[in-house]
Amino acid sequence: MSLIVANWKMNPTTPKAAQRLFSQVSSGIGETKDIEAVVCPPFVFLSELNQLNSLNALDFLKLGAQDCFWAGKGPFTGEISPLMLKNLGAEYVILGHSERRQYLGETDEMINAKIKACLKAKLVPILCVGDSSREDKEDIAQIRQQLTEDLKGLSAKELKKIIITYEPLWAISTSPGGKAATPKDAVKGAKYIRLVLSEMFGEEASQKTRVLYGGSVDSGNAFQFISNNEIQGVLVGGASLKPNEFLKLLRRLANPTIELNHKI
Ligand code: PGA
Repeated sequence: MSLIVANWKMNPTTPKAAQRLFSQVSSGIGETKDIEAVVCPPFVFLSELNQLNSLNALDFLKLGAQDCFWAGKGPFTGEISPLMLKNLGAEYVILGHSERRQYLGETDEMINAKIKACLKAKLVPILCVGDSSREDKEDIAQIRQQLTEDLKGLSAKELKKIIITYEPLWAISTSPGGKAATPKDAVKGAKYIRLVLSEMFGEEASQKTRVLYGGSVDSGNAFQFISNNEIQGVLVGGASLKPNEFLKLLRRLANPTIELNHKI
């Protein structure tokens, strides 16, 4: 079953717009057993969207956050703890997104502490790792360093509770010249992730870990990223903010034989 994670980033700007976007997606897709979708809005909309989601009671649709702090509570101005997120209905947390690494100076040490805190609170971490240059083939080694440090001190059993996303920085739609990776590049990245995971945690745990691809995913290309044994889902940024486009993507992955230009 494919996992589709919607990363709304710092969008939209009002609670009304967030509710509308969420409702359009949840009412448009109906019940499905073939996909699992996680919408990750800004923190401030979680509570309202959780209420909407409880009313709709769609099993396949869950909520997640885009970050969290590593401590449970205390003097950490501006921060949000895993437990707070859980109490607002979040079940997943995106961690280590390249935008946080780049603009907020988030280090691997911080990400490691956040992963541990999420696991303790029984939230599913969605760890993002990725290389920064499309041309420099050696760059993929950055992923080894990120995985080694971000997953330090975890057991094979804990690894199975974590989702890893291969998100090359050069493929993010808002990066300069950002264009989706080819399916071949995405599979190569996912395979490399599994290689490093198998060295760290053993083959069995590596094979059981879900690996997603993220970077300019839309309804037209999503299916090609998951039609292999290496990638179990996608992380979607820009396209998740357009309800019709995102619904098309969900339907396409829930029903791979659906007509691509099926009217919604
Ligand atoms: P994108 O963003 O789908 O707009 O490329 C993905 C992400 O950065 O999470």
